[in-house]
Formats: sequence, structure tokens, C-alpha cells
Amino acid sequence: MSKKAIEISFPVAELDRVAEIESYRKEIYRPIYHNHKWWAQRLGSVFRAIVIGSTGDEHISIFDQFYCKHGTNDKIVLDPFMGSGTTGCACALEGREFIGIEKEAEYVEIAEKRIAYWSQQPKLPVE
Ligand SMILES: C[S@@+](CC[C@H](N)C(=O)[O-])C[C@H]1O[C@@H](n2cnc3c(N)ncnc32)[C@H](O)[C@@H]1O
Repeated sequence: MSKKAIEISFPVAELDRVAEIESYRKEIYRPIYHNHKWWAQRLGSVFRAIVIGSTGDEHISIFDQFYCKHGTNDKIVLDPFMGSGTTGCACALEGREFIGIEKEAEYVEIAEKRIAYWSQQPKLPVE
């Protein structure tokens, strides 16, 4: 089985520059993949890179795919500790199928609402 892009390398330096912009004045510079609000206060740029690296083209580096549109494919992301569903939101923005497992019913409800919301948002590049 071939390796996923995320198993070969992860663009830490490039993402650091993107994440710095994303985290600075989010109310002004909020990028389309910035999917957190009150829950899971982590950066959408990092989650986008993780999803691309796990489900994208393994022959192209993650950062070379970062600003490309990603159509649906047959890859399914499983998060066995879903929490409030930030990974599921990132998958929704990438058009990826997602299965989440979570033991806390309250988090499941929050995750379902968040994923439903992000499924309706435009995808990169902006549609
Ligand atoms: C840090 S959160 C996960 C964040 C999430 N992966 C994301 O992408 O945002 C960890 C979650 O795992 C859940 N959890 C812990 N043990 C579990 C288990 N045995 N089965 C299902 N969920 C579990 C906790 O309730 C918690 O919500």
C-alpha cells in the first residue's frame, strides 16, 4: 500500500506562515477553512493540511495541494475520538466522507450541527 502524503512529510514551515496570518485578527483575515468558533479552538489551516495529507494525492506535496480545489473521492476519514467534530468540519470543507465516534452525547450533538453548517459553506477556491 502506498504511503499517504502526510506519512512522507508535513509542511510545518509553510503552515506556520499561513497559521500566523490565520490566527492574527481572525475577525478580519478569516480564511475560508477557518472552521472553529467556540469549540476546538484550533486552526483550520492545520486541519486542512491534515485532511489533504491523509486523503489527497500522495504524489504531490501537501502544500502544493493546499490552495487547490479537492473534489470528492473514495477516501473516508475516521475520527474515533470525534469530540466537537473539528476534523469532521475540515472534511466537510474538503468534500470528504467522514465517520466520527464519540462517547459524550452532548459532543455528538454539537459535532453534528457544526459539520452540517460547514457542509453548506463554499469550498476552496471560493465557488
Ligand atoms: C480531544 S477530543 C477529540 C478532538 C477531535 N478529534 C477533533 O478533531 O476535534 C477527545 C474526545 O474523545 C472522546 N473519547 C474519549 N474516549 C472515548 C471512547 N472510548 N470512545 C469514544 N470517544 C471517546 C472524549 O469524550 C473527547 O470528546
